[in-house]
Amino acid sequence: MKRITRREALKFGAIAGGSLLLPIGLERRSYAKDAGSPETKPFTLPFKIPPVLKPVRSDNTPGNGANGDFSGTDYYVIEQRPGRQQIIPGYTSTIWGYNGIFPGPTIKNRVGRQTVVRHINKLPAGNPFSVHLHGMASLPQYDGYAEDITPVGYYKDYVYPNNRAASLWYHDHAVHQTAFHVYQGLAAFYIVQDEYELSLPLPKGQYDVPLFIHDKQFGQDGSVVFDTNGQKEVMGDVITVNGVAWPRMEVANRKYRFRCLNGSISRSYDLALSTGEPLIMIGTDAGLTGAPVPVKHFRIGMAERYDFVIDFSKYKIGTQIVLKNLNPDKNEEYENTNVVMRFDVVRQETDNISIPSKLRPFERIPESSAVRTREWQYERGGGLWVINGKIWDENRLDANPGLGDVEIWRLYNKAGGWFHPIHIHLIDLQILTRNGKPPFDYERGWKDVFYVGPNEDVRVIGKFGPHIGKYMMHCHNTVHEDHDMMNQWEVGQGGPDPVTSAPPKKLPAAPFV
Ligand code: C2O
Ligand code: CU
Ligand code: CU
Repeated sequence: MKRITRREALKFGAIAGGSLLLPIGLERRSYAKDAGSPETKPFTLPFKIPPVLKPVRSDNTPGNGANGDFSGTDYYVIEQRPGRQQIIPGYTSTIWGYNGIFPGPTIKNRVGRQTVVRHINKLPAGNPFSVHLHGMASLPQYDGYAEDITPVGYYKDYVYPNNRAASLWYHDHAVHQTAFHVYQGLAAFYIVQDEYELSLPLPKGQYDVPLFIHDKQFGQDGSVVFDTNGQKEVMGDVITVNGVAWPRMEVANRKYRFRCLNGSISRSYDLALSTGEPLIMIGTDAGLTGAPVPVKHFRIGMAERYDFVIDFSKYKIGTQIVLKNLNPDKNEEYENTNVVMRFDVVRQETDNISIPSKLRPFERIPESSAVRTREWQYERGGGLWVINGKIWDENRLDANPGLGDVEIWRLYNKAGGWFHPIHIHLIDLQILTRNGKPPFDYERGWKDVFYVGPNEDVRVIGKFGPHIGKYMMHCHNTVHEDHDMMNQWEVGQGGPDPVTSAPPKKLPAAPFV
């Protein structure tokens, strides 16, 4: 692969005008990258699935309803620490991970059981963590509030109610350090299932496969390179899935369910199959949708989750199917960002599954039930990323919906150059309109991240609860979040303080009670 760095290209006058279309001051990668990652051919490494974490203890003591009713609790312990692993062929890279691996171990749980996860900080000095379980309606003190940080040498027990089935993920949220920490590897799946979902004839077990997509940049020695391009974005020239560069997955000629998460810092994807066959979309951020919908391709911004089924039974053994990205980077050193992974159909297996025409009952929230509308504009201002002209301030509240209030939030982006996947903590919402039109077919479900593209205007509706307290909203380009496109709002009044009501404790850790 020939690599011309941006600086060389500028020197030799080889740049065509692509980036000139962007607003002044916002050109992407107008700085010089080093030589690019070591040359890596796509589809050389085998696909892998992150391990599922085992609880250290489980009990069947029922909950009293204070944090949801539950039949018992599963306790987990995770150390956040550096680790070394192969991501690109021929190199071992240092990452930071939950239990020292990237992505971290998957936590799987059932609706009706509570989870307690003890996170222990063994990161390098100067790196406090805050753990956010993205998509869970956690109490404020367990929600990974940006200022609720646990220093090195301390630990914190996070409590999760598991109140509905969805593909969630947990990742770092430490104030101003989120992008760096997530990029280093502090991110993993957390999957909640319920009896209803398990009763549906959908692919299960080894045919229910998580895909954590994340782009990375490497130095010539295989080290992970973090460069925010002047606090704007982190873009990698290597696409990884579950911590492996462009993996090759061997599949049987049957149906598989994929839980797809864009765990990238700043890159969005437009995913499609190389065969032109549709992906059968069955889930959004917050779980199964009302009905499956086949699409030729779909857009996925950072932190969005989409579940889909691929039916490999139509392919002969020996067929190779590439998961493509129809929105690749135009710069030459990113030439392989047009592909994500490959499926090799290698075995015959029978499959009696036919995807049900109805998935989970889905009711639209009527627009008329909203008690008010709020407007949020996302833009660049004063050299920072801002919401309604403001940066993050832990002492300022920007909204105060009442407990149980239904509100419409209008999320918009008047600028042409950048997109912002906006994440609203605590609640699940529905898209009413995208640019005045109905949402895309595949985004008509419960969601917590909303892709607000250049010049886009997205109206969403949701009901505030079940907890009172302070929660955040931010762009999930975590570089934007860190600098400083994040604010907070409070549901009701008198909720627990997110920072002081469950403070971290000093190691050594006490046994679980
Ligand atoms: Cu996935 Cu506030 O983040
Ligand atoms: Cu979240
Ligand atoms: Cu943004």
